Amino acid sequence: MPSFNQRSKRKRGVILSPLGWQRLQAAQKQSEREANGRQPYTLEDLNELTGLSLNTLTKIRRRQTAVDKRSLLDYFSTFHLTLTPRDYARATAATVVHREPITTIQQDWGEALDVSVFYGRIEELATLETWIQVDRCRLVGVLGMGGIGKTALSIKLAEQIQEQFEYVIWRTLRNAPPLETLLRELVPFLSQQQETEAKMGHLLQCLRDSRCLVILDHMETILKAGERAGQYRPGYEGYGELLRLVGETAHQSCFILTSREKPAELATFEGTELSVRSLQLSGSEEASLALIQASGLVGSEEQQKELCASYSCNPLVIKIVATSIQELFDGEIGEFLEQDTAVFNGIQKLLDQQFNRLSSLEQTIMYWLAINRKWTKISELSADIVPAASKPKLLEALESLCWRSLIEKRSGSYTLQCAVLEYVTERLIEQTTGEIVAASSPLPPASLPQSCSN
Ligand SMILES: Nc1ncnc2c1ncn2[C@@H]1O[C@H](COP(=O)(O)OP(=O)(O)OP(=O)(O)O)[C@@H](O)[C@H]1O
Ligand SMILES: [Mg+2]
Repeated sequence: MPSFNQRSKRKRGVILSPLGWQRLQAAQKQSEREANGRQPYTLEDLNELTGLSLNTLTKIRRRQTAVDKRSLLDYFSTFHLTLTPRDYARATAATVVHREPITTIQQDWGEALDVSVFYGRIEELATLETWIQVDRCRLVGVLGMGGIGKTALSIKLAEQIQEQFEYVIWRTLRNAPPLETLLRELVPFLSQQQETEAKMGHLLQCLRDSRCLVILDHMETILKAGERAGQYRPGYEGYGELLRLVGETAHQSCFILTSREKPAELATFEGTELSVRSLQLSGSEEASLALIQASGLVGSEEQQKELCASYSCNPLVIKIVATSIQELFDGEIGEFLEQDTAVFNGIQKLLDQQFNRLSSLEQTIMYWLAINRKWTKISELSADIVPAASKPKLLEALESLCWRSLIEKRSGSYTLQCAVLEYVTERLIEQTTGEIVAASSPLPPASLPQSCSN
């Protein structure tokens, strides 16, 4: 039988904190980009690089069993990181999150974006993970202005923590589905088709029976515009009841919401319920600088930082302005900064400038993507556009729009960035109200879409 001393010795050790884990992953990703042809390192690669055994590496990465602090130091120093006290916790009953291993995860990512290119946000990811994994929050809001990175962050987070859940489902509310439509998708999925009725009670039962992660993107779409913030549009009040139940009732699941505005329930309950919290996202200098570097712009570190600051480190705006700099200033940040930036100031002006440079086919594609408001295949676009454009021409135009960061691409389908969708919708409305739609117009007036956020 082991003596007390032996036992306590064996128990000693440390475990990576969510922050340490995020820092390590980010540094490892960077090394994969720079030194491994963008391929992820296998455990065997890591064993060779760090000198740590496969068993120790697995333990460190699973974060359920304590390891020697020395092993963490070795792992960190391999990727040129200094281990700080915030990167680990002493393994005690309180720091180890005991989890039953989940063997099968049911996932439905709906129309989620591809986030394989994602930079920075280490602190934010660590905070959200702590809230969800350690503090067991039931309702978490990710809030911030358009283009700041809420959707990208929520998908990245969900990808990183998915193994802790039996069910993961991601849904966008961009087209303002009535609550019943949403429940009709959530309930059968989360109950493995055992329940098919779109009832709130059934949903709650699923949230109790299993650990489910539900991500609802673009919550602001169902909130009233221009009134007291956080109130629902007529007919969408049921969402308030849904959030109240998720936040207040005991269950083992988590809802993550992204929104430009804070729904009233979040504001009310985060004061009283420890399990309801929200994170206000501001710009990310790290992500913005990485995006500038990836776009091949030329400029000193100060110039890059000045450019980021001019656009509040908003990743979407940075991506769009980068293409203007490429086209108009040969990629020279300095020359761009010397100009009267009023021309490019604000997203509206930036988008005006970009839109006016598009070919007429590119503009028509933008309009059709705004009308369709969903991921659209090239074959559908081809059917929409009159007179027809050849497939190579369409592909070329789509490629160019992707390069300008005006559209998003995912396995052969395309959609507009949300902020861009609003802009194009406004343009469409102005255009069609300003003139009687001529028979030659490519746009049927009846199909005018509503704005993204109201
Ligand atoms: N950390 C990041 N690293 C790399 N790209 C990012 C990052 N954050 C955001 N982006 C990119 O910036 C663009 C805008 O991000 P995203 O769509 O997440 O913004 P949003 O806050 O959801 O905006 P909206 O309110 O309009 O929906 C996307 O193309 C996204 O891929
Ligand atoms: Mg979004």
